[in-house]
Amino acid sequence: MKVYFDNAATTAIDEEVLAAMMPFLTEHFGNPSTQYSFGRDTRAAVEEARKTIAQLINASAGEIIFTSGATEANNMAIKGSVNYLGVERIITSPIEHHCVEYSVDFCRDNLHVETAIVKIDGNGNVDLEDLQNLLKASDKKTLVTLMHANNEIGTLLDIEKAGALCKQYHALFHSDTVQTFAHFPIDVQKMNVDFMSGAAHKFHGPKGIGFLYMRKQNKVQPFIHGGGQERGFRAGTENVYGIVGMAAAAKKAYANLENDRAYILDLKNYFITKLKENFPDIDFNGNIDKRSLFTVLNVSFPPNDKSALLLFMLDMDGICCSGGSACGSGASAGSHVINALHKDENRVSIRFSFSKHNTREEVDYVIEKLRKIFIG
Ligand SMILES: Cc1ncc(COP(=O)(O)O)c(C=O)c1O
Repeated sequence: MKVYFDNAATTAIDEEVLAAMMPFLTEHFGNPSTQYSFGRDTRAAVEEARKTIAQLINASAGEIIFTSGATEANNMAIKGSVNYLGVERIITSPIEHHCVEYSVDFCRDNLHVETAIVKIDGNGNVDLEDLQNLLKASDKKTLVTLMHANNEIGTLLDIEKAGALCKQYHALFHSDTVQTFAHFPIDVQKMNVDFMSGAAHKFHGPKGIGFLYMRKQNKVQPFIHGGGQERGFRAGTENVYGIVGMAAAAKKAYANLENDRAYILDLKNYFITKLKENFPDIDFNGNIDKRSLFTVLNVSFPPNDKSALLLFMLDMDGICCSGGSACGSGASAGSHVINALHKDENRVSIRFSFSKHNTREEVDYVIEKLRKIFIG
């Protein structure tokens, strides 16, 4: 049996999404920047997709920039807000994805930006009182960058509260929403975000395409220079089939949001119950209640003589899951997220992450294999 429990790393593309993309890989190949019919067709498809993404987050189409993925979108927002919007100080958390963490480090080391790290608790919840104190402490123009859901442990930020605090103290607010866009309702007005990012491959769309939402009052200059694509904000011929696929995947995800959420949450809760029944020493990293992403479960196993080889042994049994961050899939050592929670270093953490394609039978199979490893 093959079990894919690494859906926070990437998801399988939906057949319907692929079908929507195919004409743009075949007959509709025109460059959207051209004026004749071939180009007009692809231009119309790109603009339709932009409208779709904008409507889903209560933004306007002019505020959506298509990018190569979330890494580029997050880099553009953070470095751009320093380079073009006068940001002199960045507040962030110790558990951001590396593309955010290293962008902030870059601004600190090369662009003379002051940085502050907000406190988190042992489950990765941001201390909003500390955020308020940090916001109060300086008059410098500040960007707050906090992810909506952590990709390794699933802990959710109270994004509306964080956004309200940023508004109160006139700070710009960027949120890495890669794990929540197309999984949760997102409203950029209610959440008061100035920048947010998404990547299609996290919601059954294609890889290599994402977007940045930029509030119209706070637009940064291009990160990639060249032609005038994306209304001058991002040069390079558009990834038309990717853009069409991302919009199709997002539309489908939002149309089925409640059903998919209920199904996946039930699966996750079933897994939690089975783990507790079978392994008395089991623990979890991050929240496992409603302040948690329903797709992610980070399990902490007690050390035993085989625990160092756990991922490898699961892989031998056809089970795909992750030991560290999504993008370091397969690496069990040194997660900066798990380290920041200050848990027992000897325990082994494995992230299982689910999609609508997973089943209870797969959970039973994983439990059986874990029993074999831990109990014999
Ligand atoms: C929270 C988060 N942010 C950003 C990224 C980067 O996304 P991409 O690799 O599509 O650029 C990931 C990917 O794992 C992620 O989980």
